[in-house]
Amino acid sequence: MPEQSQWMRIVAEDPDHSQNYIERFRRLAEEGMDLSGEARLIDAMVERGARILDAGCGPGRLGGYLHAAGHTVVGVDVDPELIAAAEADHPGPTWLVGDLAELDLPARGIDAPFDVIVSAGNVVTFLAPSTRREVLTRWRAHVAPEGRVVVGFGAGRGYPFDEFLADAKAAGLQADVLLSTWDLRPFGPESDFLVAILRGS
Ligand SMILES: C[S@@+](CC[C@H](N)C(=O)[O-])C[C@H]1O[C@@H](n2cnc3c(N)ncnc32)[C@H](O)[C@@H]1O
Repeated sequence: MPEQSQWMRIVAEDPDHSQNYIERFRRLAEEGMDLSGEARLIDAMVERGARILDAGCGPGRLGGYLHAAGHTVVGVDVDPELIAAAEADHPGPTWLVGDLAELDLPARGIDAPFDVIVSAGNVVTFLAPSTRREVLTRWRAHVAPEGRVVVGFGAGRGYPFDEFLADAKAAGLQADVLLSTWDLRPFGPESDFLVAILRGS
């Protein structure tokens, strides 16, 4: 068994955490907040009908958008409450409960590889630190030879950007493009957010 994800530790300490998270995003959607910026970038990176893995999908805001745009979407998340919300709010994609440190979709009857694996919303900072390289290695194994892995997360959350890039390299993923926002602003030494577009090396 992999070490428990930091997200599920938070949930164990606060049983309302998942439901509060779900309700927060439902409220933002009702208020008309743009919750699709990350998904629009992913949509622009692929052809119609691409195979997309939403890794750490939460309640499904990215996967739901990408499904509606005509892609084949699989979403995986360790939190069963969030997957239940994804099924309720965004029917269509294949939503699965699972720890990314144990990701093996062919063993669950789902074809790999994927044209894009997207992991938005600080997912990598909620992994158990001991599983970070394993998760990146599994993403490498699930991405198509010409596919990309796109990861977005903020600074100051316990996973320095240079450590993440070193882990990605060790897992066989090299950085193609580094951005500081999902709307394509360049990454630099002062950036407090990283959107890394990686490909198999
Ligand atoms: C802040 S939420 C982001 C959710 C979604 N990606 C989004 O942007 O709306 C972080 C997510 O990472 C998921 N997560 C953390 N560790 C995980 C793991 N080891 N395996 C699968 N999902 C994980 C959590 O369950 C949670 O849904």
